[in-house]
Amino acid sequence: MSGQCWTLVSGKGGVGKSTLAAALGAHLALAGRRVALVDLNTGMRGLDMLLGLESRVVFDLGDVQEGLCEAEQALVTDRETGMRLLAAPQMRDSEALDEDALRAMCQTMCESFDFVFLDAASGIGRGFTAAARAAQQALVVTTPDDMALRDAERAAGLLRRLDMPAPALVINRIRPDFVDEGWQYTPEACAQTLDLRVAGVIPDDTAVWRMTLQKRPALGAFPAGRAMAALARWLENADEPIPPWRDERPPARGPFWNRTKRRRT
Ligand SMILES: Nc1ncnc2c1ncn2[C@@H]1O[C@H](COP(=O)(O)OP(=O)(O)O)[C@@H](O)[C@H]1O
Ligand SMILES: [Mg+2]
Repeated sequence: MSGQCWTLVSGKGGVGKSTLAAALGAHLALAGRRVALVDLNTGMRGLDMLLGLESRVVFDLGDVQEGLCEAEQALVTDRETGMRLLAAPQMRDSEALDEDALRAMCQTMCESFDFVFLDAASGIGRGFTAAARAAQQALVVTTPDDMALRDAERAAGLLRRLDMPAPALVINRIRPDFVDEGWQYTPEACAQTLDLRVAGVIPDDTAVWRMTLQKRPALGAFPAGRAMAALARWLENADEPIPPWRDERPPARGPFWNRTKRRRT
């Protein structure tokens, strides 16, 4: 069976596309799926460093597009998870990206991989359209705030004009306290604003940042790790339930409550 090619897009930069591409790839690879990541951040590659693979990159996407090597030769293997990475060209700009060649390459990769993730450049420039045209499906990644949502809305609008299924939404870096204070929106409100189905809600979690600094994909039993694992399962089966993004237990009675209660009796 042919694999799935997903692109991660946003609009605003820094919302977690690369982090999610690495984490989703790692979860699926460890579950036995054949996974390839393609970094499309031409001129500003990032996934190689995010995974600690920077010293092993010999060929990149630009070399593949120029015919200097086959895609297979340019793929670097992450030893921890077995996923493969095709690095972005560092010394070119996105104008050099050949859309048709990228689409053909992704189609070929889908024959030998279960999942191909395209880590699109932020913004809605050439990298965005090239990624969207090459992928079969898209994940719009946003943080639940005004600035990122406005850009996500624009990106989602452009995706809708392409011949692909409606994109799914990933809300990253949510903080229940910020939602309660009114600085961030609930996942329901984000979904309504963008008119997209939600595929995943990922908490803001310093463990993710720590793993980024350690050049490792965000894997593990911390809140964001569990949410990313659920999103990886959602990619295989869209019926996968989305775990609650906030603790649904009633708040524990604190010391103040205990003191008042004691005084009354
Ligand atoms: N859920 C999260 N919790 C905490 N930090 C996160 C989370 N997701 C991403 N980050 C951090 O946000 C920063 C930007 O993420 P990145 O994946 O590079 O964004 P993008 O690829 O969209 O530009 C990184 O430092 C990363 O560690
Ligand atoms: Mg990135």
